[in-house]
Amino acid sequence: MEYPPELISTLRSASRLAVLTGAGVSQESGLRTFRDAQAGLWSQYRPEDLATPEAFQRDPRLVWDWYAMRREKVNAAEPNPGHFALVALEQRIPHFTLITQNVDGLHQKAGSLAVIELHGNITRVKCSLCGLAAGSWQDNGVQVPSCGCCAGLLRPDVVWFGEQLPRAELEQAVAAARSCQVFFSVGTSGVVHPAAALAHAAKNNAAVVVEVNAEATPLTPRVDYALHGKSGEILPGLVRAVWGE
Ligand code: OAD
Repeated sequence: MEYPPELISTLRSASRLAVLTGAGVSQESGLRTFRDAQAGLWSQYRPEDLATPEAFQRDPRLVWDWYAMRREKVNAAEPNPGHFALVALEQRIPHFTLITQNVDGLHQKAGSLAVIELHGNITRVKCSLCGLAAGSWQDNGVQVPSCGCCAGLLRPDVVWFGEQLPRAELEQAVAAARSCQVFFSVGTSGVVHPAAALAHAAKNNAAVVVEVNAEATPLTPRVDYALHGKSGEILPGLVRAVWGE
């Protein structure tokens, strides 16, 4: 891919860069994106119908099993060149902030040091009543495992539809979007707020906004550079174009 020379020179001189990633950055690690069709017995369900407090209330075992299946896939997944290119950016840009909507922990697995997880992390489990983190649990395959402290049902430590995002992480992400010189939106359809508002906050603060995504999104008309294709190819190519290796 040819990269716009002005983008290359902007990145060479940038000292404050913020990146928002979505499920697309993990697609080349073999993980389905959030709006990809589901497979096998899960194909009859839409993620939006499972990732909710109401679904867990109605059928905790179904929701628990869906996350257990996804946790297994996440634990078996490896970071891809897109994740590693973001590690390279973190090493080269003085003030680099990585904000992710993903719950798969692949940025940390790739070596990213400072990751803001807006939607939690699927490998973490907590009590649905008292919020206590659970490091381990017994699963007899019938009842959903319960908290060792208050007997509440355990649940994945992820943000469900209708739930509040973690306040500190959201404030950090907004601050980074408002103060960066360059903002990247990578592998996200840009339809879920408040994450989707971050690129607009950056734009409103005169940042250069770059979209790296397999297809156009509602954000595309507002970006300065729309690099459409696979993030696992575009990001490493951009790092090479800017820093030569
Ligand atoms: P989506 O599935 O909505 O969007 C993924 C985007 O990645 C799509 O626009 C794809 O075109 C693009 N894509 C797919 N493969 C790609 C690749 N190899 N390289 C680059 N782009 C690629 O997932 P998200 O935008 O992450 O939140 O969804 C945002 C949030 O919606 C999720 O975090 C989830 C859901 O609400 C919660 O569960 C709280």
